[in-house]
Amino acid sequence: MPIIRKLFSLLTILGTLLWAQLEPVIAAESAAMPTVLITGANRGIGIEFAKQYAQRGWLVIASCRNPDSAKDLQALQRNYANLQLVQIDLINSAGIDQFAQSLNGKPIDVLINNAALLGDLKNQMFGQIDYEQFAQILAVNTIGTMKLSESLTPNIKLGTQKKIITLGSSAGSIASINGNPDLYAYRASKAALHLLMRNLSFELADDGIVVGLINPGLVDTRGFAAMLDGTAPTPPKFQKIVNLIKAGVIQLTTPETAVTDMITLIDELTPEQSGVFLNADGTPLPW
Ligand SMILES: NC(=O)c1ccc[n+]([C@@H]2O[C@H](COP(=O)([O-])OP(=O)(O)OC[C@H]3O[C@@H](n4cnc5c(N)ncnc54)[C@H](OP(=O)(O)O)[C@@H]3O)[C@@H](O)[C@H]2O)c1
Repeated sequence: MPIIRKLFSLLTILGTLLWAQLEPVIAAESAAMPTVLITGANRGIGIEFAKQYAQRGWLVIASCRNPDSAKDLQALQRNYANLQLVQIDLINSAGIDQFAQSLNGKPIDVLINNAALLGDLKNQMFGQIDYEQFAQILAVNTIGTMKLSESLTPNIKLGTQKKIITLGSSAGSIASINGNPDLYAYRASKAALHLLMRNLSFELADDGIVVGLINPGLVDTRGFAAMLDGTAPTPPKFQKIVNLIKAGVIQLTTPETAVTDMITLIDELTPEQSGVFLNADGTPLPW
């Protein structure tokens, strides 16, 4: 019995010594992992951002409106222990405040304002504009994105990378409108969002925060590839855009390629590029 007791205490001492060696290593490793918060992470470009950052070993705070029904994101979470699923609805200002408080001073290295509402295309045609939908699009894309950026700025200041990244759109580039006057609400929401992010870049420059504004290009989050190769029918609302892709006027990319390009750009983003409207390949776009 005394031998067993001695052996047991020896093992306990060894275990304690081993843990004492490992604990700082584990703590240092998790402290070294940057944190990214992504909005609208349940589908489209957002879930691809969540996947690629999770694969890199970052701490991913993947937010969406309805985590309970976000099946694809839940499946991703099962594969990556470094991915956390949280609820953020951009039209719920009080909810954003509560969420920011719940972070309790946790640093965020990169905020990715990805979520947006495109809205029904028919209700954005002149002569039949639905102003309730118009207000909702502005509430999500413009006001909600601004509110979240403002509420999380204290956490970004505490981060190492200090980046606020927003997905803009060439549809919101006033200089690029060329005789195709559609999407009244969505275009207006993005143009205003671009302006807000440029403002923010000046506001936060002294804090060392870089404000990135990226146009991802035409990314296939609507099943265009299947419409092009005829494996899926083309709904009338997408006929025009499918024709433009077929004619080579617009280039279509996959979420995987677009997000890989954008992550490279975000990694390398400089203070000089803060508040500049950029394509995913880093080339500047006109306002
Ligand atoms: N795809 C493109 O070709 C393209 C081109 C230019 C710019 N962009 C921009 O890139 C971003 C992502 O585009 P995407 O094609 O991936 O969009 P998407 O497939 O339409 O997904 C939009 C995301 O935003 C979320 N969302 C909508 N309303 C919200 C709210 N009130 N609060 C929180 N989240 C909300 C959606 O959540 P639910 O699932 O709950 O609705 C969804 O997760 C957007 O900012 C878009 O404007 C995309």
